[in-house]
Amino acid sequence: MTIDALAAATGWLLFMAVVLICGSVAARAAVAPGSHGLVEDVWLERQTAAPGLAGAVLMPLALAAVFFRQLREFRDPFAPWSEDVSLLLSSSWGTAFKLAVAAAAVALAAMVVARRGRALGWWLAGGAATVLAVFPGLTGHASGGDVPTWLTVPADALHVLAAGAWMGGLATVLWIESAWRCRERDGSSLLPTLVPAFSRLAQLSVVILVLTGTLATWFHLPALTDLWRTDYGRTLSLKLVLVAVVLALGGINWKRLSPRLAEAEGSRAMRRAATLELVLGTLVLLVTAILVRTSPTGH
Ligand code: HEM
Repeated sequence: MTIDALAAATGWLLFMAVVLICGSVAARAAVAPGSHGLVEDVWLERQTAAPGLAGAVLMPLALAAVFFRQLREFRDPFAPWSEDVSLLLSSSWGTAFKLAVAAAAVALAAMVVARRGRALGWWLAGGAATVLAVFPGLTGHASGGDVPTWLTVPADALHVLAAGAWMGGLATVLWIESAWRCRERDGSSLLPTLVPAFSRLAQLSVVILVLTGTLATWFHLPALTDLWRTDYGRTLSLKLVLVAVVLALGGINWKRLSPRLAEAEGSRAMRRAATLELVLGTLVLLVTAILVRTSPTGH
């Protein structure tokens, strides 16, 4: 199997940006409210929006990289560049791409507003995150050939939103915690407040990921034996092994470390374990970026 490194890198960049934006919004909705009263609202809003703002800054770069990758694959070497660009933009891929560019612009402006604690910013960021979560499905296997797109495209968007809520939410929790520790320098931690709310969000996300992931596997994997016979199946198997490790790690951390969060050693161990969970989640996104560029039928 040959891996197109540029395709994998651009896909990964795109997933990282979407995940950060979705995670920030999900954390604002489900996790941060528990901390009101403990810290000033303005500080909390600014920290919760920081990973989303990073994702929104990354997004135009990711979309530019995706555009040039697509152009490179599509282009006729004998036609002028400008002709290829306008042809590409007038295709259905181009329509989805233009929608994503508009959503990226809204996400960036919305995160700047949300950072100042304005609810409107969060609502706009939520809408932009949803559109950006639909983009991979509109331009990938979920809208290809023989699949019922009325089902696969929304399911794919839900899959991406849930991946964002889980991994991006985790990144946001870790960011808030490290910002708090840098500011206070007294060894205190916000994890006893943040983790219980995040665990509920993570559990819901995992259920959605498993359901929508199984549905995508059903539609994209012609036979179960392809899991070890085809490049697509082997890449999916690698992803599933990594997902199982992340899930086991997340489950063990939650069970073993949650009751000990009030102790300094307990929250230190949770920080380490959650960071490892996040690194592995990033690897899952990298393997997924390769998966979505591999043909399910081997052609
Ligand atoms: C039981 C768990 C899971 C299963 C069975 C599963 C399966 C799949 C499948 C079959 C696809 C479609 C790939 C394609 O378009 O060819 C996919 C896409 C994707 N998965 Fe998962 N997945 C699971 C968990 C996860 C997790 C934990 C994450 C994040 C950390 C994740 C992130 C993604 C992303 C970002 C996409 C790309 C969507 C797109 O490009 O349209 N998945 N998954």
